[in-house]
Amino acid sequence: MGRLDGRVAILTGAARGIGQAAAILFAREGARVVIADTDPVGMHETAATIRTRNGWVREVVADVSRAEDCREVVEAAMEWAGRLHIVANIAGVGQFGATVESISEEEWDRVLAINLKSVFLMSKYAIPHIRAVGGGAILNVASPHAFATGEGLAAYAASKGGVVALSRQMAHDFAKDHIRVMSIIPGPVDTPMLRAHAERMNTTLDDLGFYADPGKMGRIATPTELAHTLLWLASDEASVVTGAPIFADAGLLSRL
Ligand SMILES: NC(=O)c1ccc[n+]([C@@H]2O[C@H](COP(=O)([O-])OP(=O)(O)OC[C@H]3O[C@@H](n4cnc5c(N)ncnc54)[C@H](O)[C@@H]3O)[C@@H](O)[C@H]2O)c1
Repeated sequence: MGRLDGRVAILTGAARGIGQAAAILFAREGARVVIADTDPVGMHETAATIRTRNGWVREVVADVSRAEDCREVVEAAMEWAGRLHIVANIAGVGQFGATVESISEEEWDRVLAINLKSVFLMSKYAIPHIRAVGGGAILNVASPHAFATGEGLAAYAASKGGVVALSRQMAHDFAKDHIRVMSIIPGPVDTPMLRAHAERMNTTLDDLGFYADPGKMGRIATPTELAHTLLWLASDEASVVTGAPIFADAGLLSRL
């Protein structure tokens, strides 16, 4: 018995990193997964791994900052599987080294559209179908920068703060439909995004100020560890979890 047997899940940002690990795990646990990303090559890799393990997967090339693309992802899921229970909004982009003074309006709009507007759009099109099956879960990946931050992260911090607030709001609006909605706050996770950040800082993952040591608070997690948190939240085991930000940060934000 898989923990998501009979469920249909859309996962965005599944070509690599946390989204890829989550898609593979959700499929292993019995879900039919629809993966959506701008990167078809990475998505093929994710899909190939799932199919090798006899899982069910459908790939949709989509830019989640565009309404039309989000609508197509949901339509593809309905055409392929006929029902929908779970959406995991994982796609996101980093934006480092810019204040409100230095960032251009175009760059601000791009980051907010990919990280925040995508949650609105995917949810808008998915909710009628999740309601129709009697409920489900929407998981929105945010960031520690919604709560505590450093210099030069204006658009990223604003977008992720928005994800936390919007998730709480959606939880209230759709509780009557038995749709649980939550934001997830990962700490540092060893993905291409974190490695690119280390490169930009001219440093290595180990010297970013986080720790790989499992005995340290705020250590770097693997994408699979985050995927397990998402799996639990998507499953019926988390039936009383909704509205709240879920900290899966290995204790990062509790550090002084
Ligand atoms: N890695 C970390 O340390 C960390 C920490 C906190 C939060 N997060 C958040 O977790 C999520 C996943 O991060 P990751 O580290 O796996 O990143 P990643 O860069 O490794 O993967 C992100 C994926 O999103 C896809 N994507 C980007 N823009 C897209 C768009 N417009 N439409 C569709 N797909 C798009 C990329 O192609 C990629 O496959 C992001 O929302 C990120 O902000 C990551």
